[in-house]
Amino acid sequence: MVQLDHVSKIHTSGVAALTDVSLRVDRGEFVFIVGPTGSGKSTLLKLLYRAELPTHGRVLVYGRDVGRLRAGAVAGLRRTLGVVFQDFKLLPQRTALENVAFALRVIGTPSTEIRPRALQALERVGLMQRANAMPAELSGGEQQRVSIARALVNNPPLLLADEPTGNLDPDSSWEIIQLLSRITVRRTTVIVTTHNKTIVDMLRRRVVRLADGRVTRDEPRGLYAVTV
Ligand SMILES: Nc1ncnc2c1ncn2[C@@H]1O[C@H](COP(=O)(O)OP(=O)(O)O)[C@@H](O)[C@H]1O
Ligand SMILES: [Mg+2]
Repeated sequence: MVQLDHVSKIHTSGVAALTDVSLRVDRGEFVFIVGPTGSGKSTLLKLLYRAELPTHGRVLVYGRDVGRLRAGAVAGLRRTLGVVFQDFKLLPQRTALENVAFALRVIGTPSTEIRPRALQALERVGLMQRANAMPAELSGGEQQRVSIARALVNNPPLLLADEPTGNLDPDSSWEIIQLLSRITVRRTTVIVTTHNKTIVDMLRRRVVRLADGRVTRDEPRGLYAVTV
């Protein structure tokens, strides 16, 4: 599903954000990427959705070398993966339903399909009854659920979430992580970066740790930190 082969990313500033990272994530896996601020977590995800290009090495998504995609193919790649951000990135003047529908509209979904599919995606995140609410009327946890519905509405095989609980209280964080972890039931691959030690330790899923841009641990049922 996702493979990095000896990937390094040196930003134009000269900062080495990732150094010789090799990683493989299979279909239906759930992976936490953990590590301190500046360790390269966001850069790793950006390479996958092709917001950044690797300086060295190869990044494969669905078996395709995303570093070598033509411009038209980049748009195609982005349609086949969902991305969720810490700050939700919802359109503030649009309802929850319209925010989700927007993701269908931009890819040319027939108009009769848009509303039922957007409602179905909201149902999947438990927000059907809030479909007509504006983002400002929703709690942070609800806004993040709308953004997850938007990311899932095209049924992407891969969902990327960059610090999805970074702006949320502990209860909402736990709900969001449980929601994300359930998504793998349908064989969607989910990769989540996080700082949140509590949820990583409660879930006991695969944990990849980055430190200074290098993978320092990769454990199938890991904890946030190794306790000695
Ligand atoms: N666009 C950029 N230009 C220059 N340096 C960057 C850029 N993005 C990230 N960096 C640097 O790369 C390193 C890794 O950043 P990042 O991937 O955002 O880490 P994390 O998400 O783990 O906090 C940091 O030193 C950061 O300052
Ligand atoms: Mg980050």
